[in-house]
Parts: sequence; structure tokens; C-alpha cells
Amino acid sequence: MHPKIISPTTAEQLPHGLLELLSERPKIFVLTGAGVSAESGLQTFRDKRTGLWAQFDPRRLATADAFVQDAALVWGWYEWRRQELLKAQPNAGHDALAALQSQFPSFTLVTQNVDDLHERAGSSSVVHLHGQLLVSRCFDCGRKQPTPNPAIGHTLTPQRVQPPACVACGGLLRPDVVWFGEELPADELESARKASRECDLFLCIGTSAEVYPAAELPHEAIDAGAMLVVVNEKRTPVDRSAHHVLRGQSGTILPLLERAARFARLRGDL
Ligand code: OAD
Repeated sequence: MHPKIISPTTAEQLPHGLLELLSERPKIFVLTGAGVSAESGLQTFRDKRTGLWAQFDPRRLATADAFVQDAALVWGWYEWRRQELLKAQPNAGHDALAALQSQFPSFTLVTQNVDDLHERAGSSSVVHLHGQLLVSRCFDCGRKQPTPNPAIGHTLTPQRVQPPACVACGGLLRPDVVWFGEELPADELESARKASRECDLFLCIGTSAEVYPAAELPHEAIDAGAMLVVVNEKRTPVDRSAHHVLRGQSGTILPLLERAARFARLRGDL
């Protein structure tokens, strides 16, 4: 497929086929990645220079082995990221997705992000494929628990911090996020797969689409007959499979899409 790549600045410039589908009350599936939170000031992973994995070695910070080697280094890095998150606010892209959800009876929002900005913007039933930064679980007994006292602002750079103890067994707490080499949460992955196969419109937003199994979801949707629309500042491997590529920042494009959906549905209702 050779998708038309456009950088819309008004709702009217969005592709006609997309507007038509929006007027037909499609089942919508949204997959988001770190790009959606970039305009809130949270760093992405793979962007050159500024991405977290350009600055930090994931083997020392995001694996179970790393935690066994140096739990304080790992916990301190996540504590720093938690504090960055607590200072951040949802942006116009998060707001637009929450507004879009309220328009469509069938709307599934699956995120690879470990932040809570979709929820804070008002989205509900968000499926977190890679876990959540503000939830912890015991490295030994596995019990999930809120992270104790994430205080705002005292850590401007990552520092070593001893992990707190599990309320149940006294073991060390780890963040409830998926590390390299670990399985995704089975229920979340299954519900994402099912919804991606059943949707009419798949929006793939702000993700490099390089990390599996999340990156399979758009392909499962297309194979089942959905329209795939990519929203990203830069080129991604999934672009060539897309029906439409909307090039630009999600905080600019998603409000256009939300407004277009409102008008398209009004037209569909007439
Ligand atoms: P990446 O850092 O791999 O990709 C971010 C994408 O967002 C890139 O394609 C950017 O071009 C795009 N982008 C940046 N700013 C944008 C903006 N304002 N609007 C639109 N697009 C923008 O992040 P993910 O794809 O989310 O895993 O990475 C997937 C997973 O890899 C993450 O969940 C994380 C990481 O290892 C875990 O934490 C388990």
C-alpha cells in the first residue's frame, strides 16, 4: 500500500475516506506510545539524543537481572521518572482522545505508556500493555501495591534509592512495568488483540511501532479489514501498511480529528 502522507492544519484537510468512516459510527481502536506524552514533557524512548534509551542503558535499568544486581539504582531511576510524571499534565492530544471516546460507543484505548496521563485527561478503561509507573509489586511474592510516597520534585536527576518493603512479605518492591525479557500482562494483551481484530478504524499514535507484541496489533487490525491511520511526527515501519499517514504532533492532529469526528457524526445523523 502507498498511503497518502499529509500534515493537516485544519479538520477539513483530513482524508475524505477517514471522514466518511467516522460518520458511520466505526468501532475505534487506539494504540498510543510515548510520542503522545512528549508534549507533556515526558521523554520518549527511541528519539535520537533525547530518548531515554539514548541516554540510559536499558540493560542496567529495565531488566530483572539489573534489579538483582543493583535494586537501588533501578528503583532510583524509576523514582525519578515517577517524579517527572507527577509534575506533568495531560496535553491536547490526551484531551482529544478522551473527547473522542465520549462520542463513540465502541472505543478501545490501548497504551504502551506507563504514565497515567490518559486517565487524568478523562479516558476510561485504558488498557496498559506495559504496566504503570505509579503501581509497584513485590519482586518476591508479586503482590501489587501503590508506590509509597512518590514525593514531587526532590529528584532532578536519577539517584540511587533503596526500594521500599512489600506490605505483605517484606520483600523489595519493583515498579509494575514490563521489563525487557518479560511477558506482557496476559489479560491486557488478549483484550487488545481481540479488540484490534474487531475494530473498523485503528489509530496508531505516537509510537515507533518497533516493540512487539504491541507492534503486531495494527497488522492484525488490517488483516481483519480495518482502516489503519498513523499519527506521528516521523516515519515508522507501519506507515507502509497504513491507509493514511497524518504527519505531525499528536497534540495538533488529534484535536483536528476529534473535531472532524464530531462534524462527520452530525452529518451521519442527518
Ligand atoms: P518510542 O520512543 O519508541 O517512539 C516514540 C514515537 O513517538 C516516535 O515514533 C516519534 O517519532 C513519535 N513522536 C514523538 N513526539 C511526538 C509527538 N509530539 N506527536 C506524535 N508523535 C511523536 O516509544 P514507544 O513506541 O512508546 O517499553 O516505545 C514502545 C516501548 O518501548 C515503550 O512502552 C517502552 C519502550 O521500551 C516499556 O516501558 C516496557
